[in-house]
Amino acid sequence: AKILLVNGPNLNLLGRREPGHYGHDTLDKIVQDLTQSAAQANVQLEHIQSNAEHLLIEAIHNTDADMIIINPAAFTHTSVALRDAILGVAIPFIEVHLSNVHSREPFRHHSYFSDKAIGVICGLGAQGYQFALQAAVARLRTSDK
Ligand code: DQA
Repeated sequence: AKILLVNGPNLNLLGRREPGHYGHDTLDKIVQDLTQSAAQANVQLEHIQSNAEHLLIEAIHNTDADMIIINPAAFTHTSVALRDAILGVAIPFIEVHLSNVHSREPFRHHSYFSDKAIGVICGLGAQGYQFALQAAVARLRTSDK
């Protein structure tokens, strides 16, 4: 089975970006840990981080993954195009946010993804990605992929 991990704009700055909201782990560290956990579960993990909406859209169009774990970052609150991409390929997905978006500015309370996600994890920092991976793996097991 294969999982595509998608990280949106500014997440390349993790580690130095507003650590009060996003923690001290770098994206490299998060992805390394996640790749290791995936391997232990016999699942292949592919990763894209981009600051460019069209690159994220094209990665979603081109993937043959069975499941997507996505932190759309700021595109969460703005991107009908990214929403349409993920619905267009009809790959089930889990939405992750490091910070608790509901405790922040009102413009972060709406997501263009949540109503279509299997589940949404927010506010648990980097651990949220691990929980998402566990949930994705459990789902793939029961669907026999
Ligand atoms: C984020 C929350 C978004 O509101 C913000 O624009 C981000 C990161 C999070 O992981 O907490 O870039 O998705």
